[in-house]
Amino acid sequence: MSKKKKHCRESFVTMTEMVLPNDTNTLNNLMGGRLMHWMDIVSAIAAQRHSNRIVVTASVDNISFSKAIQLGNVVTLNAFVTRAFNSSMEVYIEVTAEDVPSGRKIETNKAFFTFVAVDQMGKPIDVPEIEPETAEEQELYEGALRRRQLRLVLGKRMKPEDANELKSIFKL
Ligand SMILES: CC(C)(COP(=O)(O)OP(=O)(O)OC[C@H]1O[C@@H](n2cnc3c(N)ncnc32)[C@H](O)[C@@H]1OP(=O)(O)O)[C@@H](O)C(=O)NCCC(=O)NCCS
Repeated sequence: MSKKKKHCRESFVTMTEMVLPNDTNTLNNLMGGRLMHWMDIVSAIAAQRHSNRIVVTASVDNISFSKAIQLGNVVTLNAFVTRAFNSSMEVYIEVTAEDVPSGRKIETNKAFFTFVAVDQMGKPIDVPEIEPETAEEQELYEGALRRRQLRLVLGKRMKPEDANELKSIFKL
C-alpha cells in the first residue's frame, strides 16, 4: 500500500521569541544553549505536524554560531519537514534576529534536526512521505538523503561502504 503524502507547508512552524536578560551570556548576547532549545521546540512541532505523532529528537547536525544575537533582539525561527523516511523526518530550521528599533534583520543560523515518530511505548512508527512543491523544497528533499547517510555513518548506524549517496560526492 502506498504511503500518504504531505507537503512541506503542512508542517511549517514560525516561533517568535524576545531575548531577555535571563537568555544571555555575560556579553549580553543570546546563549547558544537557549537558541538550541528554541530550535529543538520549533522543529519538534514541525515534525509533530507532519506525522501527527509523538516525536523524539534523534540527532542534530552541526550548528555554527557565527553571528551574535543581542539582548532585546526579536528572534524568529522557521521550521518545516524537508523529507520523511520510514519513521524519521529531517527538519530544516532558519533563524533570523531583528533589532526592532532600527528594523535591521539578519539571518543568524540554519540547521537540520532529525526526529523519529514513536508510539506510546516509544517504538518507531511510520510517517507520511513528503511531496516537495517549490524549487527550494525540491533541493532540500534531494539533499536530505545524502545528509541522512552522513549522519547515520557518523552515528555508526550505517557502514560507510553502504552510503551510496556519499560515494558519489567523495568519488569512492
Ligand atoms: C531515536 C530512537 C527512537 C531510535 O530508536 P531505535 O530503536 O534505535 O530505532 P531504529 O534503529 O529502528 O531507527 C528508527 C529510525 O531512527 C533513525 N535514527 C536512529 N538514530 C539516528 C540518528 N542518530 N540520526 C538520525 N536518525 C537516526 C533511523 O535511521 C530510523 O529511521 P527510519 O525509520 O526513517 O529508517 C531511540 O534511539 C530513542 O528513543 N532515542 C532517545 C530519543 C530522545 O530521548 N531524544 C531526546 C534526547 S534529550
